[in-house]
Amino acid sequence: MTGPTARATGPTARVTGVEADAIAAAASPDALHDRAVRGFASDNYSGVHPEVLAAITAANGGHQVAYGGDVYTARLQEVFARHIGGPVEVFPVFNGTGANVTALQSMLPRWGAVIAASTAHINVDEQGAPERVGGMKLLTVPADDGKLTPELIDREAWGWGDEHRAQPLVVSITQSTELGTLYTPGEIRSIADHAHRLGMRLHLDGARIANAAAALNVPLRAFTRDAGVDVLSFGGTKNGAMLGEAVVVLDPAATQGLAYLRKMNMQLASKMRFVSAQLIALLEGDLYLRTASHANAMAARLRAGIEAASAAGSIRGVAFTQPTQVNGVFATLPPGVADRLREDFRFYDWDAARGEVRWMCSFDTTEADVDAFVAAIARETSGAG
Ligand SMILES: Cc1ncc(COP(=O)(O)O)c(C=O)c1O
Repeated sequence: MTGPTARATGPTARVTGVEADAIAAAASPDALHDRAVRGFASDNYSGVHPEVLAAITAANGGHQVAYGGDVYTARLQEVFARHIGGPVEVFPVFNGTGANVTALQSMLPRWGAVIAASTAHINVDEQGAPERVGGMKLLTVPADDGKLTPELIDREAWGWGDEHRAQPLVVSITQSTELGTLYTPGEIRSIADHAHRLGMRLHLDGARIANAAAALNVPLRAFTRDAGVDVLSFGGTKNGAMLGEAVVVLDPAATQGLAYLRKMNMQLASKMRFVSAQLIALLEGDLYLRTASHANAMAARLRAGIEAASAAGSIRGVAFTQPTQVNGVFATLPPGVADRLREDFRFYDWDAARGEVRWMCSFDTTEADVDAFVAAIARETSGAG
């Protein structure tokens, strides 16, 4: 493959995130932050993968048509078509909330509603943007593991033709889910078939889609195109990009006016080539899988380390609340332990009322980071019953 990303993956190829931190520190020692500090708060806390940075640099210089008329955004269409199975229409955007709101808005009339798990990012972490900016109603159902099923969808899939009810016309699922769980391609296929049978469309929030592909060890198309997904929010940021996601339309009949809605929702980048170049860098080779596999492996190491230490009696009172299928570990801790751990490692409470926390791993999490954290958990829980 010739062109910008072929150049971009040259000299810096296979540099890890941590090596990149060292390179950056040598080149620019006076950063405002300590590059040695990493935690388990979010896969957004990490920096930019060096191959992505190189792709941004390679895309720099000269003039390119603004607002997506550039060669990088054109190439991106081909790259996505190869992964997802063409034809696709790809609309790069700034962030995941923007991708979700714009995608869903394009799939719905003014009277439309979206069925989603109550744990969905669109429901709990987008500040009401789907409702306020997108103007849609969310119909949510509790899902303990973050996953919808046809049966759960049926709790809200009713009332078509009733002028008093927001019309359920889209189902939105997240892969991998906000709770670090995974749908199999077959599970997505049965959701898509069910939604389509009822006259609804299927949207997939893929903020962590690369982690899912890596964990399932299948091509992206296996649980998107081949599973009946109509529109996808593709995530780059958590996968090593600086910023950049994309709305990917698999079935053009499922959307309307996306080009206009992207601008209306303030998601139309003038210098779009730099967003597109990042997504190309992730997807043209195997970078998206390398970063995601590494993050997943670090979460698996964290869980295995805690399990082993618990079995040996050196960690006490830690219980897992979800399976660890991708790059997040969810657990409950004895009272007070989370706050003591947070003196050295950042991470978030997930459900403070029941002492549940979330630990996220990233492309630049190291084995040493994980091992140090396991040792700290052992230290802080050793007195627990
Ligand atoms: C499941 C999911 N969807 C979407 C997003 C995108 O959010 P943002 O608008 O912060 O890029 C996130 C980020 O945390 C997420 O976890």
